[in-house]
Amino acid sequence: MAFKLDSVVPWGRNMEEYRLMFQLDDRDMSKKIAGFGDGPACFNYEMTERNGDVTSFDLIYQFSKEEIEKRIEEVRITVMQQMRENKDHYVWKHIRNLEELENIRMSAMRRFLSDYEKGKKEGRYVFHELPHRLPYEVDYFDIGLSSHFLLMYTSLGYDFHIASMTEMLRVCKEIRIFPMVDLDANKTDLIGNVISYFQKDYTVEIVKTEYEFQKGDNKLLIIRK
Ligand SMILES: C[S@@+](CC[C@H](N)C(=O)[O-])C[C@H]1O[C@@H](n2cnc3c(N)ncnc32)[C@H](O)[C@@H]1O
Repeated sequence: MAFKLDSVVPWGRNMEEYRLMFQLDDRDMSKKIAGFGDGPACFNYEMTERNGDVTSFDLIYQFSKEEIEKRIEEVRITVMQQMRENKDHYVWKHIRNLEELENIRMSAMRRFLSDYEKGKKEGRYVFHELPHRLPYEVDYFDIGLSSHFLLMYTSLGYDFHIASMTEMLRVCKEIRIFPMVDLDANKTDLIGNVISYFQKDYTVEIVKTEYEFQKGDNKLLIIRK
């Protein structure tokens, strides 16, 4: 069945948030980075502005700028309504209130949209669906990132996660996944089982982050070869 854009809620973060979530220091920021499920985040745009090297992969990059823009406008009101209803589940520190949240997210997504067509031509936004094989050789990227995608969508299942992360670890020297909770900010068996699987052949590290937006989502998973 063809993938439909109305099954996705596009909601994008910015470079500063990526830097804090993934604990990217200046050395990391100068490396070759892959962003999996980057969606409408403006990490790629902002990194390119500062001569960084980021390639973003996502299912939504099969759609046009106009289609993604329309979908962002469609979900904006619903997402903000949900945030208003659940605002006690969030830590209002880096982002101080709902108004600031909407401004930060919309500004990130506008910057993404302004860069999308150029970035597609330059091969920085690549339509790709995990866990399919990526057209890159072993260790092509230094770091692979997944923000608010892997480990969160538990309905995708254990096999999807193992296959996706195995493929990411084929083309990346290390991968970093944030956060380590599901959509309701709960720890899950899936996360424990995925960690046990990779601990057999890789170095696995769990790092507490200063960044915490949804209460409890302050842990970063790093898997290295
Ligand atoms: C909640 S968004 C996160 C966007 C961005 N990483 C951020 O933190 O701002 C999750 C993204 O994962 C993408 N996605 C979902 N399933 C995918 C798959 N199998 N392969 C690639 N991307 C996928 C969605 O299209 C969406 O853009």
